Amino acid sequence: MKGLILSGGKGTRLYPLTYTRAKQLIPVANKPVLVRVIEAIREAGVTDIGIIVGDTAPEIEEALNARDDLGVNITYIPQDAPKGLAHAVQIAADFIGDDRFVMFLGDNVIEGGITDLIRDFSANDWNSQIVLKRVPHKDASSYGVAVLRPDGTVERLVEKPPDPPSDLALVGIYMFDHHVFEAVRNIKPSARGELEITDAIQWLIDNGYRVYPHVHEGWWIDTGKAKDMLAANDQVLMEIAPHIDATAVIEDSRIDSRVTIEAGARVIRSVVRGPAIIGAGTTITDSYIGPFTSIAHDVKVESCEIEHCIVLEHSALRNLPARLQDSLIGRHAEVGGDERKPRSLKMKLGDYSKVWIP
Ligand code: G1P
Repeated sequence: MKGLILSGGKGTRLYPLTYTRAKQLIPVANKPVLVRVIEAIREAGVTDIGIIVGDTAPEIEEALNARDDLGVNITYIPQDAPKGLAHAVQIAADFIGDDRFVMFLGDNVIEGGITDLIRDFSANDWNSQIVLKRVPHKDASSYGVAVLRPDGTVERLVEKPPDPPSDLALVGIYMFDHHVFEAVRNIKPSARGELEITDAIQWLIDNGYRVYPHVHEGWWIDTGKAKDMLAANDQVLMEIAPHIDATAVIEDSRIDSRVTIEAGARVIRSVVRGPAIIGAGTTITDSYIGPFTSIAHDVKVESCEIEHCIVLEHSALRNLPARLQDSLIGRHAEVGGDERKPRSLKMKLGDYSKVWIP
């Protein structure tokens, strides 16, 4: 069994953060989504992993090479343009060979990992296993959608239908044997000009191959948009075991349960209410850090209230006149209040930034 992770996309829905960083490297609970995907595959016992990369290849390779805790063999497979998920399968053919494999979209986060799914696929003679999740009907048109027969088998799949025929969305986790390569050779690009994996799976069904649908009951988040990143952060923060590093300094502060404080972080005259994580080397002074907040490493927070936010590394937040909430702050960002008169708003914002002022 091999693993194939798709990490090519540009992440346009997460601008401006993804101007300067691959979307799969944005962290939830201080760990990049891509690293969480690699860990989920490794935990299922799969250690040969191909990663499809696009324009952000150098950054992805650098980030993964810098980690010595992954415990997997990685082969990078360049995709020259975003030509679709089935195109990614096609260019991975040499890497996969005759093995069965799991394909995992590098921006998907799923509760409970994929160990049981891989075990089921290995124990059966299915040619493919797909993962489905019930979503609100109005959201289904953002995904591939499956229609099941009364006996639970898959009748058909449609990619992003304007009028969804069901509320069963295709999760970005798929398992295949080598027949998928034949399927990919037999499909044509869709209206958006991509070779769709949804069409390749439909080809397998139409040609009598066994495609087993697993309906996932836990949470699943495709972290394509800012609000989805925050939702994934909420879920993962609730799952991780809290830990306060022995080198962290905590002075005159109240630290609630379910708080993780990483090495060398300093919390001074502050309150931290979990679930929350404070990254290595970060300093929190005279502040309140509320639930569902992830503050990355080497951040400075002074006289602020922050709740339900993701703050990336090397940023500084100071003297905010109101609570910062539901926000995603990029790297090396500075957010500050200014007591001097005249009181005015001063901003230096990158393209596609968004600021809400009450
Ligand atoms: C892709 C697939 C879609 C699936 C989704 C899951 O969409 O084409 O069928 O439901 O991933 O994340 P994309 O995110 O490329 O728009």
